[in-house]
Amino acid sequence: MAPAACGGGRGRGRSALSPLLGCLLVFSLLCLRAVVCRAQEPGHGQLQPLPALEVETYNYTSFQEGNSREQKELAFSREARIYQGAIQVSPDTGNVGSYQDIMVNKSGSVLLQRRFTMWRRVDNGSGSATAPRVQVVSFNSTFSINVFHLPDSSPRPGEGLTFVVAPSRDEPPPGSYGGYLGLTNATLEANPTPARNRFVAVEFDTTKQDYDPSDNHVGLNVGSVVSVKTANLTAFRIATNSSNPTNYTAWVEYDGAARHVSVYMGVRGEPKPASPVLDSPLDLSEHVPEKAYIGFTASTGTDFELNCVLDWTLSIEVIPEKKSTTWVVIVAVVVPVTVVAVGVAAFFLARKLRARRSMERRQERLEQQLSNLPGMPRGFAYDKLKKATRNFDERLRLGKGGYGMVYKGVLPADEARPEGMDVAVKRFIRDDGKDVTDFLQEVDIINRLRHKNIVPLIGM
Ligand SMILES: *[C@@H]1O[C@H](CO)[C@@H](O)[C@H](O)[C@H]1NC(C)=O
Ligand SMILES: *[C@@H]1O[C@H](CO)[C@@H](O)[C@H](O)[C@H]1NC(C)=O
Ligand SMILES: *[C@@H]1O[C@H](CO)[C@@H](O)[C@H](O)[C@H]1NC(C)=O
Ligand SMILES: *[C@@H]1O[C@H](CO)[C@@H](O)[C@H](O)[C@H]1NC(C)=O
Ligand SMILES: *[C@@H]1O[C@H](CO)[C@@H](O)[C@H](O)[C@H]1NC(C)=O
Ligand SMILES: *[C@@H]1O[C@H](CO)[C@@H](O)[C@H](O)[C@H]1NC(C)=O
Ligand SMILES: *[C@@H]1O[C@H](CO)[C@@H](O)[C@H](O)[C@H]1NC(C)=O
Ligand SMILES: *[C@@H]1O[C@H](CO)[C@@H](O)[C@H](O)[C@H]1NC(C)=O
Repeated sequence: MAPAACGGGRGRGRSALSPLLGCLLVFSLLCLRAVVCRAQEPGHGQLQPLPALEVETYNYTSFQEGNSREQKELAFSREARIYQGAIQVSPDTGNVGSYQDIMVNKSGSVLLQRRFTMWRRVDNGSGSATAPRVQVVSFNSTFSINVFHLPDSSPRPGEGLTFVVAPSRDEPPPGSYGGYLGLTNATLEANPTPARNRFVAVEFDTTKQDYDPSDNHVGLNVGSVVSVKTANLTAFRIATNSSNPTNYTAWVEYDGAARHVSVYMGVRGEPKPASPVLDSPLDLSEHVPEKAYIGFTASTGTDFELNCVLDWTLSIEVIPEKKSTTWVVIVAVVVPVTVVAVGVAAFFLARKLRARRSMERRQERLEQQLSNLPGMPRGFAYDKLKKATRNFDERLRLGKGGYGMVYKGVLPADEARPEGMDVAVKRFIRDDGKDVTDFLQEVDIINRLRHKNIVPLIGM
């Protein structure tokens, strides 16, 4: 599209319309034009940069039992809860009953109640018929975990904790304990369903399954617990499987524009390491629904461990709700319609005013000319004559004269004529502009005539 198409050209007021309406119409056309041009702007050639987004932050430096904000903002499933200053995604012992009853074969999740728009389709107009452009949000999430296991009760740790972008807030599927990490189960691994499997997770896995590289790794899980990419944490001197209690902090940084994820990890309290333990290309728009939930899942198996989140910060770009479209529609439709309506109203008002003014001018001219007539016949208000003839009642009609009807009437009494007076009223019916001249001629003639058989003119 040539740029001139947006800048050039101009609406033109129709000469028949009042200047005011002309102006209003020009204004409304320019308005429409501006809106249409704005909508078409990306068609100029280069893709427009995607709009910058606001960043929203959730920051939990610790978790407290009974904290109302945390209870309100977080969705806990199964036995997940806040206990001893941490989120326990799978149950802690609580020193109640036997470990076997409480901690074996469990899964759970804790997700933010808030649903996030992870991506959206933007325009696809790049001049050629390309695929729709997709804007994916960026986020950074930092959290500390405690996946400690007591060798006395469980000789090995099990099974793992994940940071997840989930398609729903539903609790983990049945049978999602053990190696399924609260994400899937045997059925969903064999037959993935979008409602369940459209997730992306970073797993901190402490149990080696057949499909796992080791019992101390991070993995990137896309719709399955079989990771698309893993990293051996032992190489980074991290031992999530250690019975020596150590808390770790993880940084998950997702760059939506670059479609890239990086995971950093270190001992809690130490600065963020310079290089990530795992990084990978990742287009979230291909793997999670447009709107999704963010949080944690975890599981235990025959071997078990704590699956605690000790603190959590999430900074995420927020795509505003679709208000802008509504706004454009309002501007594109409501404004021109209003302007046109106002214009039309102004046009009719102006016409009415003009008609009234020309009528008044004719009246003035007539009165002036009448006052020049000899004898100066008296002027009567139209209303008075209308009343005198009972609104020009057909039954009071005396006859028909040149350009009008003659009616019988009675003028009410006044100071000049205490008894009232019978009169004949002639009503001129002409509307072609010659009426004034004809009327004056006739009035002049009648006024001059004085004859016993002709009623004298007393006024008009
Ligand atoms: C989270 O809160 C803590 C304590 O108020 C503060 O030190 C930290 O900078 C905050 N982090 C973010 C990302 O806002
Ligand atoms: C835990 O699950 C495993 C595998 O499904 C099973 O063999 C074991 O008996 C279960 N343990 C308990 C206590 O339910
Ligand atoms: C733009 O995308 C929409 C669907 O999002 C599609 O229907 C339309 O054909 C696309 N247009 C072009 C020019 O690719
Ligand atoms: C995430 O962190 C990186 C670098 O640490 C920063 O450049 C980026 O702006 C952050 N993104 C968000 C959404 O906070
Ligand atoms: C897995 O979860 C689905 C629900 O998403 C359920 O229908 C199915 O029975 C579960 N499979 C097992 C083996 O528990
Ligand atoms: C932890 O995992 C590493 C790597 O797989 C392994 O060499 C080590 O023996 C494990 N330690 C424990 C206590 O299980
Ligand atoms: C993990 O890394 C450690 C240290 O580099 C190495 O000894 C071990 O064999 C690695 N494990 C696997 C499964 O690659
Ligand atoms: C790890 O976190 C727990 C809270 O879950 C805390 O009690 C413990 O002291 C921490 N351990 C270390 C080594 O900081």
